Amino acid sequence: MSTTPTQVDAWSLPEGEARVRQLFAARFGAGADPGAWSAPGRVNLIGEHTDYNGGLCLPIALPHRTHIALRPREDDLIRLASAQEPGAVRELRLADVAPGAVAGWTAYVAGVAWALAERGLPVRGFDAVVDSCVPYGAGLSSSAALEAAVAVALDDAFGLGLAGSPQEPDDAGRTVLAAACVRAENEIAGAPTGGMDQSASLRARAEHALLLDCLDSSVRHVPFDLAADGLALLVVDTRAAHSLVDGQYAARRATCEAAARTLGVASLREVTPGDGLAAALARLTEASEDPDTAVRRVRHVVSEIERVEALVELLDAGRAQEAGPLLDASHASLRDDYEVSCVELDVAVESARAAGALGARMTGGGFGGSAIALVDVERVAQVEQAVAQAFAARGFAPPAFLVATAAGPAT
Ligand code: GLA
Repeated sequence: MSTTPTQVDAWSLPEGEARVRQLFAARFGAGADPGAWSAPGRVNLIGEHTDYNGGLCLPIALPHRTHIALRPREDDLIRLASAQEPGAVRELRLADVAPGAVAGWTAYVAGVAWALAERGLPVRGFDAVVDSCVPYGAGLSSSAALEAAVAVALDDAFGLGLAGSPQEPDDAGRTVLAAACVRAENEIAGAPTGGMDQSASLRARAEHALLLDCLDSSVRHVPFDLAADGLALLVVDTRAAHSLVDGQYAARRATCEAAARTLGVASLREVTPGDGLAAALARLTEASEDPDTAVRRVRHVVSEIERVEALVELLDAGRAQEAGPLLDASHASLRDDYEVSCVELDVAVESARAAGALGARMTGGGFGGSAIALVDVERVAQVEQAVAQAFAARGFAPPAFLVATAAGPAT
């Protein structure tokens, strides 16, 4: 049986800008002249569920972006429209934005304005429209792309001076914007996520992976150009539903935080691999309410941070073709110890490997979303075909594919 794998194409910057300008004119009048900005989704190479443990992660920004056209207002009214919600204009007042007060996608937009205002920055109301080619619900951070697009739009429109110019992004200012996006997501949208996605969208660089140290928010830009090595990073959107607002993500985070308390450390980052980990697991076995779960979760986090370091070493040494086993080990750890994989992700990973991928893993929060595979460039079509066939044979919805390259940050 042969299937034609679906590809998720990115829009060019002019195409995205034209779309939101047109939509803005349709919703708010042709005479109005908004500014336009955009921000990327991300895919994480390795370092999963490490960000809220003060660990390391290594995302890249995708060429797929969320676009926004925005015009500041003199009052505190926020009027919002989305191409994904034909005909509707949502209205709310900035003064009314508070934890628990805003539902749905508008929480990600209004939440960023709220978080910036909470910092004492001079943000008021605005009219805005958004459109996006970041696949929604695919674990590629469409919500962080939306937040980051709003952040750079408000920064520019209200003259906050934090983002810097596209030629010279201001990383310190962008760290402040990323923190506001995280507050929007945690406190207004109610998703207890860790901050990797917002940093990737705002602080990544084209042709580089972002080594993010979540202990102090410092970053290093690691050269990442797989094509130069004849390789490709294939992303498989399994189309299996996932949600970060549900309890599974929060439960993982709570177990890690409880384990850190039991161990008397500020975060699991302080647990060193080897003897340190062995001692920590012994202590958790004695002192945890559910020792088996605590041991698995901590073992994942500590080993995953080591894998980030190992992958960065390979990339720095120009040895990306040796990265497959690290991806495989990350997947096994997320599946068996962290228990955040699902059957669609496992099938994607296994069928990609069977078709010749050098390594593969789930990426993002898990429970659905996307997997990544490191593939020789000439084998991309073959791997896509094999994964699509494995999905069809299992009766799963057809997956979608994109070949990810490291693109630039929000501008
Ligand atoms: C989601 C969250 C991130 C991170 C990943 C898992 O993408 O938004 O903060 O925790 O899951 O690595």
